Amino acid sequence: MIDVIDRILVSEEEIVRRSKELGKQISEDYRKKGTTPIVIGLLKGSVPFLAEIMKHIDLDIEIDFMDVSSYDGAESVGDVKINKDLDKSVKGESILLVEDIVDTGRTLKEVRQLLFNKGAADVKIVSLLDKPDRRVIEINADYVGFEIPNEFVVGYGLDYNQKYRNLPYIGVLKPSVYE
Ligand code: IMP
Repeated sequence: MIDVIDRILVSEEEIVRRSKELGKQISEDYRKKGTTPIVIGLLKGSVPFLAEIMKHIDLDIEIDFMDVSSYDGAESVGDVKINKDLDKSVKGESILLVEDIVDTGRTLKEVRQLLFNKGAADVKIVSLLDKPDRRVIEINADYVGFEIPNEFVVGYGLDYNQKYRNLPYIGVLKPSVYE
């Protein structure tokens, strides 16, 4: 598997260290606000990061998962296909949405709108990675693990054709794999 990786961009140790920092910050911020979020992971990419960061959130959180995909050519906000919906209502709740990467920003904008449509009172976003150069929609995560350059990465949840999600680091995929 390693022979498809050009170089490691973020190591496992760095991800764990940063998750601790973010978890501490998130705990302090919600404690100040006096609310406890429902932590929602977007399947499947957020799973390893959610599993890491939740250990460092010192609040009585609940977790839930959602799987959405965009309709082909969908332009309007909130217009996503729900493949797996949340188990519980989020009406009036504070949500902390966990993502693997913010790229164009389309997914997050649509999912955030969807959560507000379901009656969420507040939606904050934590993303392991941010590729700001690729943004086409003006949206930013409230908490970001690492800002990365415009390169296709895999590992720690991120895939290429559903593979390499299990790599314990973020690596740049060799272009020969997808060219
Ligand atoms: P956005 O809607 O363009 O922000 O896309 C976000 C989604 O695209 C992420 O949740 C990933 O599934 C996928 N994605 C974006 N960049 C990469 C990458 O470099 N590697 C793997 N998946 C990516």
